[in-house]
Amino acid sequence: MLTVRAPATSANLGSGFDVFGVALGTPADIVRVERAPETTITVTGAGSEYIPEDPEKNTVGAVAKALNAPARIRIDKGVRPSSGLGSSAASAAAAAVALNALYDRGRSREELVPIAAEGEALVSGEAHADNVAPALLGGFTVVTDEGVTQVDASIPVVACLPDISVSTRDARGVVPESATMDDIVDTVGNAATLAVGMSRNDPDLVGRGMVDAVVTPERTKLIDGYDRVREAALEAGATGVTVSGAGPGILAVCRRQDQREIASAMVDAFDAVGVESRAYQTAVS
Ligand code: HSE
Repeated sequence: MLTVRAPATSANLGSGFDVFGVALGTPADIVRVERAPETTITVTGAGSEYIPEDPEKNTVGAVAKALNAPARIRIDKGVRPSSGLGSSAASAAAAAVALNALYDRGRSREELVPIAAEGEALVSGEAHADNVAPALLGGFTVVTDEGVTQVDASIPVVACLPDISVSTRDARGVVPESATMDDIVDTVGNAATLAVGMSRNDPDLVGRGMVDAVVTPERTKLIDGYDRVREAALEAGATGVTVSGAGPGILAVCRRQDQREIASAMVDAFDAVGVESRAYQTAVS
């Protein structure tokens, strides 16, 4: 039996819509695989009741098919579905690494990115690699039609997950179809600032670059208490705050010494609007 862990991830980071992604240390999914004549899947852990075990309907089943690697697969979910923290990507990435090793398929981590993204297509309808790329490669990733660029990075983060549900379909439904030239220029500038910040491990630059005037403002309307939580995190020392992926998770970048206070400020701010939440003190890694 082979066991592989794959971490939560966050995509977009404000200015990098459908392009930027980061791997977070926690939470994580654990996937165990054994060779079998046919693929079977069992799912336990966070939100497992919402995840189909039918291999035709589960991301991991698509990965097993793509690698021609039938197996008995057990998924222990640490990353809750519909969190904005790359839940299905964590399972798909862990399964891709595990099955690749189990059957000696010899694929590199980079070659596993499109295979794991096929699993994503099964759940979301679109083969976005902005979560599977960082789940497989770690650090900070830039996904474009031309391929994936990765840089190792180490930036403290608080990922706060409210106990509310925002469907990816709704979150994509509010994305505007066009943007003004001013907004495009601002977003490019912020994205470049963020990327430089990642390569320098500089939370101030990353925080400053986590801003976009196009997608995120529309999505924050779907998250009860967002403005209050953002203000609380900034007052407690966060260098930048944005929606994680399609939400409802919220990501705050910070310096290590401020992390604990930011985590508790975010949970308290959600609490003040009657929303329970959990804050992970983690890091881009
Ligand atoms: N980038 C996607 C979105 C989420 O923001 O809708 C992850 O694929």
